[in-house]
Amino acid sequence: MDIVGTTPAAPKAIHLSDYAPPAWLIDTVELHVDLREDVTTVTSRLAVRRNPVRAAEGPAPLVLDGEAMELVSVTVDNRLLHPADYAVTAESLTVPRLPEAATVEIVTRIKPQENTALQGLYKSSGNYCTQCEAEGFRRITYFLDRPDVMARYTVTIEAEKARYPVLLSNGNLVDQGDRLDGRHWARWNDPWPKPSYLFAMVAGALTQVEDRFVTRSGREVTLRIFVEPGNEGKVAHAMDSLKKSMKWDEDAYGLEYDLDIFNIVAVSDFNMGAMENKSLNVFNTKYVLANPETATDTDFLGIETVVAHEYFHNWTGNRVTCRDWFQLSLKEGLTVFRDQQFSADMNSAPVKRIQDVTRLRQVQFAEDAGPTAHPVRPESYIEINNFYTPTVYEKGAEVLRMYRTLLGPQGYRKGIDLYFQRHDGQAVTTDDFLAAMRDANPDAAVDWAQFQLWYRQAGTPVVEADGAYDAASRSYRLTLRQSLAPTPGQPEKAPLLIPVALGLVGPDGADLPLRLEGEAAAAGSTRVLHLTEASQSFTFVDVPAAPVPSLFRGFSAPVRLRFPCSDAELTFLMAKDSDAFNRWEAGQTLATRIILGMVAERTAGRAMTVPPAFVEAVGATLARAHEDRSFAALALMLPSEGYLGQSMEVVDPDGLHEARETIRRTVGSSLGAALRRLYGECREDGPFAITPEAMGRRALKNACLGYLMAAGDAEAAALCLEQYRGGSGMTDVLAALSLIADSDLPEREACLEAFATRWQGEPLVMDKWFTVQALSGRPDTLERVRRLTGHPAFSIRNPNKVYALIGGFTANQARFHAADGSGYAFLAERVLELDGLNPQVASRMVKAFARWRKFDAGRQAHARAQLERIQATPGLSPDVFEIVERSLD
Ligand code: ARG
Ligand code: ZN
Repeated sequence: MDIVGTTPAAPKAIHLSDYAPPAWLIDTVELHVDLREDVTTVTSRLAVRRNPVRAAEGPAPLVLDGEAMELVSVTVDNRLLHPADYAVTAESLTVPRLPEAATVEIVTRIKPQENTALQGLYKSSGNYCTQCEAEGFRRITYFLDRPDVMARYTVTIEAEKARYPVLLSNGNLVDQGDRLDGRHWARWNDPWPKPSYLFAMVAGALTQVEDRFVTRSGREVTLRIFVEPGNEGKVAHAMDSLKKSMKWDEDAYGLEYDLDIFNIVAVSDFNMGAMENKSLNVFNTKYVLANPETATDTDFLGIETVVAHEYFHNWTGNRVTCRDWFQLSLKEGLTVFRDQQFSADMNSAPVKRIQDVTRLRQVQFAEDAGPTAHPVRPESYIEINNFYTPTVYEKGAEVLRMYRTLLGPQGYRKGIDLYFQRHDGQAVTTDDFLAAMRDANPDAAVDWAQFQLWYRQAGTPVVEADGAYDAASRSYRLTLRQSLAPTPGQPEKAPLLIPVALGLVGPDGADLPLRLEGEAAAAGSTRVLHLTEASQSFTFVDVPAAPVPSLFRGFSAPVRLRFPCSDAELTFLMAKDSDAFNRWEAGQTLATRIILGMVAERTAGRAMTVPPAFVEAVGATLARAHEDRSFAALALMLPSEGYLGQSMEVVDPDGLHEARETIRRTVGSSLGAALRRLYGECREDGPFAITPEAMGRRALKNACLGYLMAAGDAEAAALCLEQYRGGSGMTDVLAALSLIADSDLPEREACLEAFATRWQGEPLVMDKWFTVQALSGRPDTLERVRRLTGHPAFSIRNPNKVYALIGGFTANQARFHAADGSGYAFLAERVLELDGLNPQVASRMVKAFARWRKFDAGRQAHARAQLERIQATPGLSPDVFEIVERSLD
């Protein structure tokens, strides 16, 4: 051994500016996977040839990526190479001298049964499955594991027939057979060239539910969802969502499915939500399995969205893929935007928009404000798996939405059509996408160079608005100022092109016509201004009376707005704005203002009081609630403690928690009668349904119950217990259980225990049970969470369990950020425990520390100590290393 005393070098960063096309291309792959309990043998035959675009550089060695495998042999054009003829490192296989084109055959051995990282080939509940995005294929065989190398795959899987009756891979089943020794094999061929990250295979004992879809040109597609036996009864919603997605993509984007089979396999151990492998999507069970007894309305909506998301990737990601991983948002931002549009069309558009913006602000704005802030198109990374972020996904989707806002629906569609016309079958960049949008809309008045900054600059812009009405000239002058704070590596920022959709609301609540100075006529009641300068004024003329501006309607750009309007103007917009999003937004702004004011009172040592006007505004929302119950439920939701903390110089988690609870208590007791009445009305529902109306009724009912429970009277407790015990459907049961878990009710322990007994056989329901306890505001929550890590239903190896219990706890602002540092110490222990097993999940957990500098000195000291403890641990994964480094930087 000559590796004594070496400190492993710090992991290296990869830079976008270093991109070069591959020296070699791979046209076809013939994979043979021999699955055995002790070891799996993979034989890979690659047809390689030099990449003509790099011919000028002369002969280059073939350098293949590979990790965590045993190399058995390398053969070139049927000649077995001597080990001296190639070089192997921990990360690569180099074959130095090859002709212009060659057939390279590589045999490797792997142990999927020991793969706890859940990347590459691994086992979940006894079945084999794969996850290759981003760089998992290199854990199956040596390969040019980069998305700009696209090949046609033929895959033969061989396994014991009794244990693994189902053998799947991408494309079409072309042949299969039995062997004499109880083993069998299946061969799949995928006619579409694809990058290695879209490869997938599955072998296991699974049952299938089958359906079909006929595409608009008449292609008959067989749809199959594979699940563990016993779960067949829980796939109807996923199947339905799939068919709706296929239809919607034809109607909205003109995109049709391109194979005769579409398979989904649900596995219970999965790092992320799901994966869009060509014609063989692999899903986390969380996004497939549902029935009303086990799944909440949120789960049903999540399934609809994720099924659609992965299906939509067939075009945005698979047919046109990414040149390199810096371009990840090319497929993810676009595909998230598409799934958002789809869900908006299937349900209520304003409700969906409010939910999406809430999530963006909660997680992406937080990321933008911390040490891991990065642009939608990052410029460097150490571990690409760390960049599957809210910025790349959700902010990326906002960028797509802005194209559409700037170009209009038709201009946007023209751009999309040109994008596919130009790039079908290619691996491209976000610049290529922008060029297609630009070139398809030559007459659009858009400064594309400036628009491109949305991809390059990190951080959330702040827009300050100010308005002045001049009665004499009947004009309204709106001044907008934009700024973007420095983020790591980006001290200096340039002004962005910010689309500002706005209206001017007249005294009676009606929108006023919008005519800018110098224009011949008014144009609509909502219009999109282009804010391009650091400071810019817009003067509207013919304005009959002083308006209240409604800015960023529909949240037309991912910015923070500062507009010094009065509480009365906010209350006015809450009631009158024609834009539903801004009606909701006005209520949130008002609530934020009041909660932050209360925290300031508390800090000053004064008693917190809830302004009566706020209670009145909530009362008005209740009175109108029957008009749109889903919307009312969202309007009743107070901004989260996490989001509120973003507006504080120094986050005060205890103050925020107390202020928010005080409001909930005050509203609950002041408006008790109205809340109870509404609760009763919403309870009178018909048979259980997953329609927007029925979901709205449940959401509103549970929002009312929450306020009533906050007030803490016996009557509310009785209602809550009754709903828990008699609840039909998980939405109601879980809503009640969350309130019970948060309370001091004597029935609390018994309810939690009964729930666990009832649902011990349903892992996805047990996840909810863990989360409910992890989110409890009670002071003994950490103690309980610690205890639950030893519960038989918990496993640190199962990502869903980790996200449910540990992730749930880190979302619990008051408890995770306990002043004594106990929450931080707990997380650090779990991260270190996880890192050796599953670096990707460990890294996602360690991100909870990222914003530690926003807290007071005492909390900072505790958090820093834990981050340093992690940093000092030998053998850290690059995943966790990168986040900790950035956090301490
Ligand atoms: N492409 C998948 C999706 O968003 C995500 C898979 C990411 N996996 C990972 N290990 N980074 O649909
Ligand atoms: Zn995706």
